[in-house]
Amino acid sequence: MTPAIDLSATRHPAIPPRSNERFSRPNLVCLPKGERVHTHDGRELVLRNIEPGDIAALQRQFRRLSPEDIRRRFLHCMGELPESMAQRLCRIDPAIETALVLMDETVKPAELRGVGRIYVDEAANSAEFSVLVECGWARQGLGALLMQRLVDDCRRRGLDEIWGYVLLENRPMLQLCKELGFTRRLIPDEPGTAQISLQL
Ligand SMILES: CC(C)(COP(=O)(O)OP(=O)(O)OC[C@H]1O[C@@H](n2cnc3c(N)ncnc32)[C@H](O)[C@@H]1OP(=O)(O)O)[C@@H](O)C(=O)NCCC(=O)NCCS
Repeated sequence: MTPAIDLSATRHPAIPPRSNERFSRPNLVCLPKGERVHTHDGRELVLRNIEPGDIAALQRQFRRLSPEDIRRRFLHCMGELPESMAQRLCRIDPAIETALVLMDETVKPAELRGVGRIYVDEAANSAEFSVLVECGWARQGLGALLMQRLVDDCRRRGLDEIWGYVLLENRPMLQLCKELGFTRRLIPDEPGTAQISLQL
């Protein structure tokens, strides 16, 4: 009997996957229980996908952030993270979103030390990213780890580009992205903000 031909294997590699492949539930990028990762100074965190049960931890993390970190992450000032927004950020649609969290399970309750997320624009075949590492955990390789995993996830989804808005004063993020090969362009209507992107 002739074996069935796997058409996906014979398609030209430059052709993006069909939309039902691109936007069907992707393989999760880490095990459901998470992957143990370590900071440069040896502290252990668990990297996993965000879950609906992370709402309280996300709100606690928000309360630990400096006004500067909040402005750099959300591009405007915010005094609190409303419950509805926290719910929305934790209950993602995996067909078009990935949200990775770095959980500190050495404390009770476990605390969220970093978050990286992408939101896919199906029409443009690209994804917008955001990333945040709280200050007591900064400069430990976690921002780079999250960004690399998001880039890998975008590639797995067959996207053409990952991009994000970064304030021009945000030297840490601009430097991090430069090292990952992102390029930057200024946005004429938004002085002080750059759009940084990586072609995949
Ligand atoms: C930007 C941010 C994500 C970086 O996270 P991080 O975990 O500290 O970054 P890493 O430790 O992985 O650093 C990777 C590289 O980025 C650069 N970098 C990071 N912080 C830096 C700083 N304060 N000054 C200069 N370069 C810096 C360095 O090149 C660094 O490599 P090195 O430590 O080997 O020199 C973090 O500072 C943050 O969450 N800021 C607030 C939110 C934000 O700005 N988000 C981006 C917009 S969505």
